[in-house]
Amino acid sequence: MKIGFVGKGGSGKTTIASLFIKYLAYSNQPVIAIDSDINQHLGESVGFTRDEIESIPPLGTQIELLSSIYKGTNPRLQNTIQFKRTTPPGTGSTLIKYSEEHAVLKSFEIQKNGIRLLRVGIPQDETLGEQCYHANMSGAEIYLNHLIDKENEYVVVDLTAGIDTLASGMFVSYDIIYIVVEPTAKSLSVFNDYIRIAKSTNIEAMIYPIANKITTQEELEYIEKNIDQKPIAVFPLSSYIRKTERGEYISFGEIEKETRTELEKIHTHIQTHTKNWEKFYKNLLYFHNKKASKEKHLQLQDQIDPEFNMLAFL
Ligand SMILES: Nc1ncnc2c1ncn2[C@@H]1O[C@H](COP(=O)(O)OP(=O)(O)O)[C@@H](O)[C@H]1O
Ligand SMILES: [Mg+2]
Repeated sequence: MKIGFVGKGGSGKTTIASLFIKYLAYSNQPVIAIDSDINQHLGESVGFTRDEIESIPPLGTQIELLSSIYKGTNPRLQNTIQFKRTTPPGTGSTLIKYSEEHAVLKSFEIQKNGIRLLRVGIPQDETLGEQCYHANMSGAEIYLNHLIDKENEYVVVDLTAGIDTLASGMFVSYDIIYIVVEPTAKSLSVFNDYIRIAKSTNIEAMIYPIANKITTQEELEYIEKNIDQKPIAVFPLSSYIRKTERGEYISFGEIEKETRTELEKIHTHIQTHTKNWEKFYKNLLYFHNKKASKEKHLQLQDQIDPEFNMLAFL
């Protein structure tokens, strides 16, 4: 299952995503963690050192290499330049199974304590800004769109803050998106913006709220009054998180029961979903067609292979 965590900056996206990743690894579930946040902290939060993280190349700076891998022998793609972030797989494309060891792709990940980590990377020159960060993000999208995972194989992505993440169609790469909200007006208005944008597309996305930093019943009621979905988990302020923030190493086994219970709720919630590859592929085509018509790249439409059946790869 491909799970994305989004939310207003500071709401606790990275914290909740990293706890969930540690929870999965601790429960012996296979997990791939992808750091796509512009503030790259996920790797360290799940126990990797800076040196270990920097030893893997960022997906976002290797788009041409990724394109050449996934293009495979697909006759609808003459070269890697034609390969766009929305390009859907077709006959001849390379699709990678979750547990498959690919000679080149394995160099993009590092493993520790049962966690496989990949990163998107931030643009080298910070003055290049938002546009460039999106270009980096396409590394994660291309990776996810060609990854064949099963329901009990988890990919957890810490997505960059901001509405643009959803507006640009990145959410089609995920089975489920969790929006982390705090009991603040700003955080809830960001949640409502995400929902509005998702609804404005033609696709039926699985998007749910997770409440964080809740100290009183009144705070939870404030959230429930201002959004029209009930949070699927409610995290209290956590002393485990506070201690790890001080750089203390604490085994996940020592996390407080209240926080662990909420992580279990996320896990149970995911298990109520089934993978729907037909819908996944249809969503990829929807956004690819949208890009094709927006950019008047009519040849982009020719990249869609009417004979292709994603289910044949499972
Ligand atoms: N449930 C929590 N209990 C205590 N501190 C928290 C909790 N959730 C987040 N924090 C703290 O809030 C800050 C912002 O969290 P972070 O995960 O970095 O936010 P984001 O990734 O959304 O920008 C961090 O200092 C983090 O330790
Ligand atoms: Mg973060």
